[in-house]
Amino acid sequence: MGKLNPIPKIRLGINIDHVATLRNARGGTRPDPIRAAQLVADCGADNITAHLREDRRHIRDDDIARLLAEVDCPLNMEMAATDEMTDIALKARPPAICLVPERREERTTEGGLDVISQHNALAPVVAALADAGIEVSLFIGAERPQIEAAARLAVPAIEIHTGSWCDAVIEGRAADAEKEWRAIVDGAAFAHALGIEVHAGHGLNYATAEKISTIPEIVELNIGHFLVGEAVFVGLGESVRRMRAAMDRGRAALIARAGDRIAS
Ligand code: PXP
Repeated sequence: MGKLNPIPKIRLGINIDHVATLRNARGGTRPDPIRAAQLVADCGADNITAHLREDRRHIRDDDIARLLAEVDCPLNMEMAATDEMTDIALKARPPAICLVPERREERTTEGGLDVISQHNALAPVVAALADAGIEVSLFIGAERPQIEAAARLAVPAIEIHTGSWCDAVIEGRAADAEKEWRAIVDGAAFAHALGIEVHAGHGLNYATAEKISTIPEIVELNIGHFLVGEAVFVGLGESVRRMRAAMDRGRAALIARAGDRIAS
């Protein structure tokens, strides 16, 4: 009998942007996103994610500096592939960066990067960040041509945009949800076969995080808005613990199905 590949554990990255949104609503320093980052790290987060936007609507430059200096958890910095952000990243040197598309007028990151048309703009940014020892991922839709374009840029990881799937699930559009789900399953397997590490995120809640944890190629979820919203009702630490438990249930279901073991 052939040797089974162990199913990797799934990491939980917590996006703390909306703690900063709340702080900025009143000015001043509270709630402090760095305190939130340390709290979620203590409650089971594997990474902290923070998006330094061009307009600094939530996370600010000094937050990035403090996240790196004061928090006991690796930072995954999200940013647009601009000259300004690349300069900041090369000075700050977070361990990981996720390149995302950014439009000033959007409320949140609405779609994935178009890696095909943006190849020439992305290539020097990816190379500069990689040369600095930063692990680069690209936030993209699950379409195969985008994944192939990511492979041409030789990035070690992609993050699949789960927003359309989550919206379809929440709005009860079953056929759309199934179509989006199939695309994510296919995209994750395709990227993994190309040697790319697969992350996923956007719009996830307990139920969708549990379900997506059943996809064996996905090794990291990045989740923010839902957890900060849940924190209003159950506290931030408890919302993180419930999310971790949901993801573990998903992984356990996968393992039961595969008759396999979680890699230690
Ligand atoms: N991953 C990326 C690349 C994102 O841009 C965002 C939103 O900032 C998230 C994950 C988290 O999305 P949500 O806040 O909807 O959980």
